[in-house]
Amino acid sequence: MNKEVTRRSVIRVGGVIFASGATGVLEAFLSACNAATQSSSSSSNSSGSSSSSSCLQATNVTRGPYFVDDRSDPNISNDVVDSSIPQRSDIRSDTEGGTGTQTGLPLYLTITVGDYSSGACSPISGAQVHIWHCNAQGDYSDVQNYTGEDFLRGYQWTDSGGQVTFTTIYPGWYSGRTVHIHVKVRIFDSSGNVTTEATTQLFFSDSTSDAVYSANSAYSRSGSRDTLNSADNIYSSESPSLLVSLSGSASTSYTGTMSIGIAKGTIFGG
Ligand SMILES: [Fe+2]
Repeated sequence: MNKEVTRRSVIRVGGVIFASGATGVLEAFLSACNAATQSSSSSSNSSGSSSSSSCLQATNVTRGPYFVDDRSDPNISNDVVDSSIPQRSDIRSDTEGGTGTQTGLPLYLTITVGDYSSGACSPISGAQVHIWHCNAQGDYSDVQNYTGEDFLRGYQWTDSGGQVTFTTIYPGWYSGRTVHIHVKVRIFDSSGNVTTEATTQLFFSDSTSDAVYSANSAYSRSGSRDTLNSADNIYSSESPSLLVSLSGSASTSYTGTMSIGIAKGTIFGG
């Protein structure tokens, strides 16, 4: 699918057409329709360390309507591909359009990925980790008012410790969802075939989000957010919910960490 398709103003899902602007409705629809289509594969070119560390088991949940892939993935229905989605650590800028760098509270986020077993994880190196989230005003790139742009999207490859680090901003909010960051982890074999795929979402405490939004004008909105963690169906569907551990300040910056465990050899496109 070429980039032009990613710029359409309506999205068709299973015969239902969603107009631009229906972010929360569409994401809720996708969540409800999300069949856990899983298959397994035993081959992989990634390597695992013998050391293990504590982690949270990542529940597979919907990727939502706004994942934009850097390559074609047969495990993702209606995969939207934009080969220029960049490998990068700092995802705040837009490399395709003219929006510039997104403003908001800096968030330095380290995600550690491991192969989950009995509450512990063995680090997985060489895994691709995509993250994507909305900006301070609740908008995603490549859709709605920001088609053809790629701010707050990007991917990294895990190092020998299973880690990737992103520089981004604390996410904003949009109607119908609590504050979240989407994550997709994939492992490929030497031929480029997906051998492991996990799709999940990260969350933040509501009190922290309130503090961030109060302290930073970039998040000023005319309305109030309508969905806290307790009312969010995706937050509730994760067991455990993946709450990012933060250090820092709502007025200066946060450093966030999250160690997630995935099931190596299983595939969930989302
Ligand atoms: Fe989302």
